[in-house]
Amino acid sequence: MKTYQKVYHILKNADNYISGEQLAEQLNLSRTSIWKATQQLEKHGLVIDSIPNRGYRLIEGDLLEPSWLSDQLPFTIHYREDSQSTQQDARQGLEAGDLGDSLYIAPSQTGAKGRFGRQFFAPQQGGIYMSLHLKPMVAFEQMPPYTILVAAATVQAIENLTTKKPLIKWVNDIYLDSKKIAGILTEAVTSVESGLITDIIIGIGLNVYIKTFPEELKDKAGSLFDEQPEISRNQLIAEIWKVYLNTPENQLIDLYRKKSLVLGQTVSFTQNKIAYTGLATEIDREGRLQVETPKGETIWLNSGEVSLSSWTSEQKD
Ligand code: BTN
Repeated sequence: MKTYQKVYHILKNADNYISGEQLAEQLNLSRTSIWKATQQLEKHGLVIDSIPNRGYRLIEGDLLEPSWLSDQLPFTIHYREDSQSTQQDARQGLEAGDLGDSLYIAPSQTGAKGRFGRQFFAPQQGGIYMSLHLKPMVAFEQMPPYTILVAAATVQAIENLTTKKPLIKWVNDIYLDSKKIAGILTEAVTSVESGLITDIIIGIGLNVYIKTFPEELKDKAGSLFDEQPEISRNQLIAEIWKVYLNTPENQLIDLYRKKSLVLGQTVSFTQNKIAYTGLATEIDREGRLQVETPKGETIWLNSGEVSLSSWTSEQKD
């Protein structure tokens, strides 16, 4: 464990100021090292009050805690502070022989990717960025609809731990108060020889408490919390995967439908260069969206090919 992580643990569990001297003694370090550690914690987005002659107190923020997560979850946790993309970290792990059930997490990402090669905003502070590597070894037709299951689990986990009521925009976006707060990216590796899906990497990016977004995202992106969160990112990470692992697939799919922002709404999309508008009527077990056009056509949209360009975004209960 790094010094700043040790200092964080002590400050997190203290209910008052702790002097630099006390911290130094407890950790067998110099007071300068303690001061440097608090600077590092501030770089990680934590707010630490320091008062001469009284010491330090943690006011706001948390650190990701890989060892706590590994006690909570049946996954091997890989933590990387300088990640470009946890999706890429998982991919590298896979290529190096990772046996699966591995969760790659990072406090930020410099090159995070979204669906259709889009970028994903993953700043220094306030987000959850993680990618789960699984080895399902199933035929394509038997593959569970991972994006749907994980989106539903994320919404349920948020509801279990907070008073927030997020909704899902087909297929992989989670919204709160008409702004996107999370995105999911699922990537699969198929074996040419066996035709089986050998590996799956499910990436989740969740804006937990991001205070500022770039100008171009300001109107579209939001955070789960707009003030100091009542829960830690670690708790939320653990809850998402616990819900995912412990809830039957059917239940998660039903939840996904219940929390859908688009079912029963008018949606627009482009397929084979033709623009369509229609009523979103069903989401099937493979995660496809059924749309009825005014001409009476029924179109099944495949999440890998189509993204909705608009939908009537009235929030549901
Ligand atoms: C989307 O909105 O299109 C999906 C965004 C997925 C972002 C997550 S963050 C963790 C993982 N690492 C990445 O580079 N992407 C996913």
